[in-house]
Order: sequence, then C-alpha cells, then structure tokens
Amino acid sequence: MSKLVVIKHPLIDHKMSKIRNKETGTKEFRESLSELGGLITYEITRDFTTKPKQIETPICETTVYELEKPVVIVPILRAGLGMVDGIHNLIPSAKIGHIGLYRDEVTLQPQVYYSKLPKDTKDSVVLLVDPMLASGGSVSKAIDIIKETGAKDIRYVGLVGAPEGVERLQKDHPDVPVYLAALDSHLNENSYIVPGLGDCGDRLFGTK
Ligand code: URA
Repeated sequence: MSKLVVIKHPLIDHKMSKIRNKETGTKEFRESLSELGGLITYEITRDFTTKPKQIETPICETTVYELEKPVVIVPILRAGLGMVDGIHNLIPSAKIGHIGLYRDEVTLQPQVYYSKLPKDTKDSVVLLVDPMLASGGSVSKAIDIIKETGAKDIRYVGLVGAPEGVERLQKDHPDVPVYLAALDSHLNENSYIVPGLGDCGDRLFGTK
C-alpha cells in the first residue's frame, strides 16, 4: 500500500487557512498556493539521496553533497500549475512536464488532451503535482502516463485529499507515496471535496 503522509506544520496550516477561506481573492490564493508548494517540498525531499563532490571553499578543500537524481515536476493542468513555482524555486534544476486531462461526459473517465514529458525518466524522481485529490481518477491516469516514460520513483504531491482519492491511488499505484497537507471528510454529490476549498483552478485563475 502506498505511503500516505499528511504533513503537519504551523506555516502549512496557516497558509491552508488562506486558500480554504472563500473570502480570499485570486492574488492571495495564487501566492499561498505557490508558497504551499515550496513548504511541502521540504517533506517530499526529506529522503532524497545525495552524492559527494570535492570543491574548494575560499579557505580549503572540502566535501559537499549534491542531489543525486534529476528531478522532474509534472503539474496536472490547470490547478497543478499553481504549486509549480514554489517547488521550482527550491529545485531550480528540475525539468517540468505537463499533463492535461478532461473528464469524458459519457464514460466519466479521464481523457488525455495534452502530455509533454521528458523522454526518459527512469533515473529521475518525478513529482506529480495536483492540489486536489478528489476521486483520484485523474491522478491515477497521470501516473499511468508517467510510468510509460520509465519512471520508477514517482511521488504524488497534493494539498487537500478525500479518503476516496487516497484509496484509489493506494489500489491503483501502491508504489507511489501520497503527500498531502490535509485529509478532508468526503466528496459531495458534485465530486467536490468537503470542506475543501472549492474549484482550485477557477480560484487560481479567477475564472469564476
Ligand atoms: N477539484 C477541485 O478543484 N476541487 C475539488 O473540491 C475537487 C476537485
């Protein structure tokens, strides 16, 4: 079963209070989402491996440690874009892929309308980013697509999750750890997370 990590940190809770509040406007929502991306990155990267390198400081030779594996950040369009800057600021060497999905109105299954990923990710750590883990269908499909590029180390990075979505990922992709800032109560009849924060893409881009 995949590991579920719900990160507890006062700064994360504080910024979550901003994005959950319906009174928060687009500017503050966008800034907080990006900052949350950065804060959550500390936890996701905790077990990243490093490799030693000999360098000279202005004083003497010494050993320093650099990240061993390349990192790829993959936001699911649209809402995932809101967390990318915060993560990329901390890992500026990361490549960025994109996956766009929509829900077929008849089958209700996620369909891919855009996918652009680095060709070979087998030696990389891939951070799949989508703030909302609702039913888990889109995230599960995105993981299928990423696995086709050879990735062996994929980590899902979200903010608000529903138990239904967590269960789905644990069933479909038990090898992928799930990182969240909060595990909410349930999905409502319109597939929104309760209490959640509403439609994350609309709030991020001001389309409502
Ligand atoms: N996507 C959102 O933006 N919000 C939800 O509550 C569920 C999915």
